[in-house]
Amino acid sequence: MIDSLQTRARTGGASLKRIVYTPEQIAERVREMGAEITNSYPEGEPILLLGLLKGSFIFMSDLAREIARPAQVDFLVASSYGSGTTTSGDVKLLYDPSAELKDRHVILVEDIVDSGTTINRLMPMLERRQPKSLELCALLHKHVAPNLVKEPRWVGFDAPKEFLIGYGLDHSEDFRNLPFIASLDA
Ligand code: PRP
Repeated sequence: MIDSLQTRARTGGASLKRIVYTPEQIAERVREMGAEITNSYPEGEPILLLGLLKGSFIFMSDLAREIARPAQVDFLVASSYGSGTTTSGDVKLLYDPSAELKDRHVILVEDIVDSGTTINRLMPMLERRQPKSLELCALLHKHVAPNLVKEPRWVGFDAPKEFLIGYGLDHSEDFRNLPFIASLDA
């Protein structure tokens, strides 16, 4: 368990509202999710884990080690501003995965589904690359997106409608290294 002094050393004294998920709760759920994903693919079928940076970097590294199937790992970085689309409707990628998606089992790994904007822009673009299968795995789902193009197949936690930080999630780039997920005082 992380004590308040260790937390203070990581937050610089910023005031947290409450701890929403402890490191132990996260680790247990990530283990379960790894088993759920393992059981969803036949033995010997390779998987490509595609992590959306930056928010998914810690979740991805923990989850990948809980999946008992042959797996490769790649990442993508999508521009988050509204004008970041091309005329074809594609999302502008600041980093495009070098891995080929065609005819592969692909899992997009997200830290959080909030408004759904990110997923709604990315999934159609990835589908057009003709993967054998394409699924979404999200650690947190706020269930506020009015119409998601695809629901995550695996969700870690149905998250409260608060501003969440830690375990990869940031506020102005801070707090990603907190080992728990907390909500921030407004
Ligand atoms: C955050 C988060 C998700 C996205 C979810 O990313 O990591 O990718 O927002 O929100 P949405 O459902 O409303 O689109 P952000 O753009 O803040 O970049 P980051 O991953 O680098 O933190």
